[in-house]
Amino acid sequence: MFYESIREASMKIAVIGTGYVGLVTAAGLADLGHDVTGADKDGDKIKKISWGDVPIYEPNLEELLKANQKRGNLTFSYDLNKTIQACDVIFVCVGTPQHEDGSADMSQIEEVSRMIAENLNKYKLVVEKSTVPVKTSAWIKRIISLYKKSDKEFDIASNPEFLREGSAVSDFLNPDRIIIGVETERAKEILVKIYQKFQDRILITNIDTAELIKHASNSFLALKISYINLISNICEKTDADVELVAKGMGFDPRIGGRFLKAGLGYGGSCFPKDIKALTKIGEEMGVNMDLLKEADQVNAGRVKVFLEKVKKALWILKDKKIAVLGLAFKPETDDIREAASIRIVQELIKEGSILRLYDPKAMDNMKEIFPEEHYRLSYSNSPYQAIEDANALLIVTEWDEFRRLDLRKVKKVMANPIIVDGRNIFEPADVREIGFEYYSIGRK
Ligand code: UDX
Repeated sequence: MFYESIREASMKIAVIGTGYVGLVTAAGLADLGHDVTGADKDGDKIKKISWGDVPIYEPNLEELLKANQKRGNLTFSYDLNKTIQACDVIFVCVGTPQHEDGSADMSQIEEVSRMIAENLNKYKLVVEKSTVPVKTSAWIKRIISLYKKSDKEFDIASNPEFLREGSAVSDFLNPDRIIIGVETERAKEILVKIYQKFQDRILITNIDTAELIKHASNSFLALKISYINLISNICEKTDADVELVAKGMGFDPRIGGRFLKAGLGYGGSCFPKDIKALTKIGEEMGVNMDLLKEADQVNAGRVKVFLEKVKKALWILKDKKIAVLGLAFKPETDDIREAASIRIVQELIKEGSILRLYDPKAMDNMKEIFPEEHYRLSYSNSPYQAIEDANALLIVTEWDEFRRLDLRKVKKVMANPIIVDGRNIFEPADVREIGFEYYSIGRK
C-alpha cells in the first residue's frame, strides 16, 4: 500500500553535480522511489560512477547507488542538456567554493541556471540544494528568466541539505527535518510529494527563510563548538574537566549535550565556509557579525593550543619522530578539507620534525598535499607502524580504531611514552597508569 503511494508520487528528477551532496541526494531520491538521473559535466567521473567506481568514501553510499542502479531508477549522464530536458524537477547540487574574502563562488550555480534556461522545454521546478547565500534563488530565477528561449513556466525552490559526512546516507534516509522554501503552491505540492515519506518532518517556508535556516544552523553549531573550546581553555588553567563541564551542561535540555566536544575545532567543507559566508552576508547588509567572527577566531586558535602542548612535551621539535594518527577532518570520511591535520603537519614540517602519518581512509588525499618524496614524512600501513620508535604520538582525528589501540603494546614500541590527544579519546587515569605522559584538551 505504502509502496504504491510512493510509486504514484514518482517524479523524473535530475540531480546536477555529483560531489558529496549530489551523489547522496541522487541515491537517496532514487531510493524513495523516484526516477533519478545524476548529471555532471565531468564525463570521466560519470563514466566511473556508472561502472560502480564511487569517487568518495561515504559509508553505505556505494551500496545505495548500486542497489538503485540495479533497480533501474538511477542512471548517470554527462549530457546536461538532455538530462535537463527529460526531467521535471532539477536539484542543483554543484559546488559553491569560497573566495578569499569569505564569500561563496556562485559561478557554477550561474552556469547551471543558464543551461536550465536554454533547455526549458516544459514546466520545471528548480530546487537549490547547495549551501548558498540568502537571495541566491532570486538570482537563479533572474538568470533563467533572462536566458530562457521558450514561454514555458518554471518555479524555484530551496531545499537545503543537512547531511553530515560519514553519516550522509542515513541522514538522508532518516532526516530530522525537511525544509522546503517555495513561492508557489505548485512547487510546494511537488516537493511535498517527493518527500511524502517524511511528511511529519516537513517545514514549509518562503525561500529566504529556507536559505537562512541552513546558514543559521551551521553557524550556530560552529558557535557551540567554539564555545566549549573557549571553556576548555579556562579548564586548562583550573582544576575543571571540560568533559564533565560539557556533560553537566548537556543535561539541560535547553543546551543539549551534542556538539559540545572540545578538541581541535571544526573543519570540513561546511562549518568553516558557512560561518565566514554568513558573516559576509550579514556585514553586507550592515549587521554587526562580531559574534561569529570571534567564534571563527577561537577555532583558528585550536591548532596553536595543540602544538603548544606538543612543545611542552618535547621542547625541541626538530628531528623528533612524531606519529600523527588521524588526518580526516572527522572520523568515517576520507575528506581532509579544512582538516586540523593539514596545519598541524605544516607546522611540524616547519619545525623540522620527522613525521609518520596514518589514517584509515584519508591518506591518499593527504598525499596530494604532502607527497612523501618532498617532505620528511612517510605514510604508514597501520597505527603500530606509525608509532614505532616515535618520540610522541598525536591523536588528531578520533577514529574508533585508535580508541581500540593496545596501549601496552604502543608503549613498548615507542621511543618515549608520550601521547598528545587532540580529541580526548582516552581516560587520563588509564593511560597514565600504563606509564604514558598524557596531554589532552581541557583537563588535567
Ligand atoms: C556539517 C553539519 O553537521 C551538516 O548538518 C551540514 O549540512 C554540513 O556540515 P559535517 O561537516 O559533515 O556536517 O560534519 P560535523 O559532524 O557537523 O562536524 C563538523 C566539524 O566539527 C568536524 O571537524 C568535527 O570534528 C567538529 N566537531 C563536531 C567538534 O569539534 N566538536 C563537536 O562537538 C562536534
